[in-house]
Amino acid sequence: MLEVQTINKSYKKKSVLENISLTIERGEIVGLVGENGAGKSTLLHMLSTLMRPDAGEIYWNGLSYRQHYQEIKQKIGFVPQDLAIWEHFSVEDNMRYFEQLSWKNIGIEACKKICEEMQLMQWKEPVSSLSGGMKRKLNLAISLIHQPELLLLDEPTVGIDMRSKQEIGRFLQLLAKTQGTTIIYTSHDMSEIEQFTDRVLLIGKDYYYQNLLSARGIHVDCLS
Ligand SMILES: Nc1ncnc2c1ncn2[C@@H]1O[C@H](COP(=O)(O)OP(=O)(O)OP(=O)(O)O)[C@@H](O)[C@H]1O
Ligand SMILES: [Mg+2]
Repeated sequence: MLEVQTINKSYKKKSVLENISLTIERGEIVGLVGENGAGKSTLLHMLSTLMRPDAGEIYWNGLSYRQHYQEIKQKIGFVPQDLAIWEHFSVEDNMRYFEQLSWKNIGIEACKKICEEMQLMQWKEPVSSLSGGMKRKLNLAISLIHQPELLLLDEPTVGIDMRSKQEIGRFLQLLAKTQGTTIIYTSHDMSEIEQFTDRVLLIGKDYYYQNLLSARGIHVDCLS
């Protein structure tokens, strides 16, 4: 279970997140929405341990991030908004490289299986020859090598076609259901959010988003 207790974050004097609290259960898929600049990526960076809140605390299964940083870090998979893969290597070589660096060594066959479950079949192809959607799938596959319990995805489906979106969404649902992975992901695509998440969290008092989601019959919890 993830628990966030009244965290704050400012960049210099600019306050971005104020008194954010939330709880997410094991195996839940939560959509994080809000307008550009609302603070979604900032929140995900703090949940990933890459950034510390100025105040407040975050707990994973009752362990505080501050005190159990090293242990918690290994339980988290984070896919940042920008791609982080080796363009001139093949899909296989990318997976091999990141598997070597990983907290857990699952072997290359298990890596291939992750890609195949996501319908990423171009195992021998150089990444530079893949479409944007395929690259996103690879970035996601890399984040799963160490079998994270908490998966944080910052706009994993931006700019990709309907079919790949469906494949990624279904894959995430399978992961949550079969492995109990807790998943938080941001997206600006409300159909996708509606289809693949169990619950929606909105950052900021943004009535436009609230109305948009309510019109679709989606219940939304506001974080600030
Ligand atoms: N490193 C930084 N230094 C200073 N300000 C920053 C930094 N990172 C983000 N900000 C500011 O913090 C606010 C929140 O940014 P953030 O990237 O978290 O928003 P977001 O909700 O992810 O937006 P988007 O939908 O565009 O990805 C923005 O006003 C942004 O300009
Ligand atoms: Mg962002």
